[in-house]
Amino acid sequence: MSAALETFTRRESEIRSYCRSFPVVFERAQGAELIATDGRRYIDFLAGCSTLNYGHNDPDMKQALVDYIQQDGIAHGLDMYTEAKAAFIEAFEAIVLQPRGLDYRLQFTGPTGANAVEAALKLARKVTGRHGVVAFTNGFHGVTLGALACTGNGYHRGGAGVPLEGVTRMPYDGFLDDGGDGLTLLERMLDNPSSGLEAPAAFIVETVQGEGGLNVASAEWLRGLERLARKHGSLLIVDDIQAGCGRTGSFFSFEEIGISPDIVTLAKSLSGMGLPFALVLLKPEHDLWGPAEHNGTFRGNNHAFVTARVALEKFWRDDAFAQAVHDKGEHLGERLGRIAAKHGYTTKGRGMFRGIDVGKGDTASAICAACFEQGLIIETSGAHDEVVKVLAPLTIEPKQLDAGLDTLAKAFADTHRAAAAA
Ligand SMILES: Cc1ncc(COP(=O)(O)O)c(C=O)c1O
Repeated sequence: MSAALETFTRRESEIRSYCRSFPVVFERAQGAELIATDGRRYIDFLAGCSTLNYGHNDPDMKQALVDYIQQDGIAHGLDMYTEAKAAFIEAFEAIVLQPRGLDYRLQFTGPTGANAVEAALKLARKVTGRHGVVAFTNGFHGVTLGALACTGNGYHRGGAGVPLEGVTRMPYDGFLDDGGDGLTLLERMLDNPSSGLEAPAAFIVETVQGEGGLNVASAEWLRGLERLARKHGSLLIVDDIQAGCGRTGSFFSFEEIGISPDIVTLAKSLSGMGLPFALVLLKPEHDLWGPAEHNGTFRGNNHAFVTARVALEKFWRDDAFAQAVHDKGEHLGERLGRIAAKHGYTTKGRGMFRGIDVGKGDTASAICAACFEQGLIIETSGAHDEVVKVLAPLTIEPKQLDAGLDTLAKAFADTHRAAAAA
């Protein structure tokens, strides 16, 4: 073990996770490539778990940030008005909201996804005066207590140490693989005053479940959920923390679906460069917050405002980037389809948010380990970690995407050959 690796194992908590799958020390990164201290280069199909949709160290974001720091721009500003924040809000209005005909107020929360989810839940409860929230099987919304109550994952829930309350879990689209329709169940329960399920403050949902295994909710299911929310006076929260910022092809994952969430949570790739930054979008009529009622010291990461503005201006001013992501997503789907078919598996996901369900966590992690040996960083997701999940930067060069997929195909073949020989 190298001296640096020894430092981590000696001093860092057992809570370490991703580093266990990739036990090297990384030094630099550019675009879709990570470079370790021994000079070895890795193609990055993890992209900070979709925090680096625009790749590592985008040159324009980097330059804007360096210039801003050189000019002694505000780094931290609580929630005070700053030039960088105003410029971000104006860009978000002009580039994201107005062209899509959306009218949301922006709430800057603490910088993690879970911070945004906590704020969204609190607001929905305040607006409706209700306590309960409906969340879905395999949903992942973070690991702070309120968000964790909405998260399905048993391992994470087990770490809570207190009861996780105020959330009823219902089947996500496709969860009942006998063809049963979870939405009809939900509707019947809400319509029946003795079902034990009261109309909730909110439904919280991912349009594609990232950590839950790339399960895709159909447009009809999501529209049905919105209809139920309207019928029962509940708010619809779309958690777009992983699926948003272009991962499915459009800025918001729900754009083509034609739903109008009351609240949207964003984080991960929002800053464009991996800087911590989260946002809650809320319809103006729900803006019932009192000043500082939901608070937090780090609601003003001005460095993130700078890079987030550049990300919007660079990638979202017109449809070209969305079209490119769409095309790359189709190509990714075709190639994953071929790998899956060769080994009798199925593909999951949409856009650049896809993977292969190999049925078993052991198989998926053996494939990911074989990828790492060959210079590809890739991880699993799903209830049993059974989905090999491709989260390449959306900006990845086609040749690099294919090189990573060649490695993935080889890892599938090698892993199966080894399993057959054992
Ligand atoms: C959909 C979704 N919501 C919320 C979160 C929590 O975000 P964070 O880890 O930044 O708290 C995640 C993290 O993976 C996520 O995928």
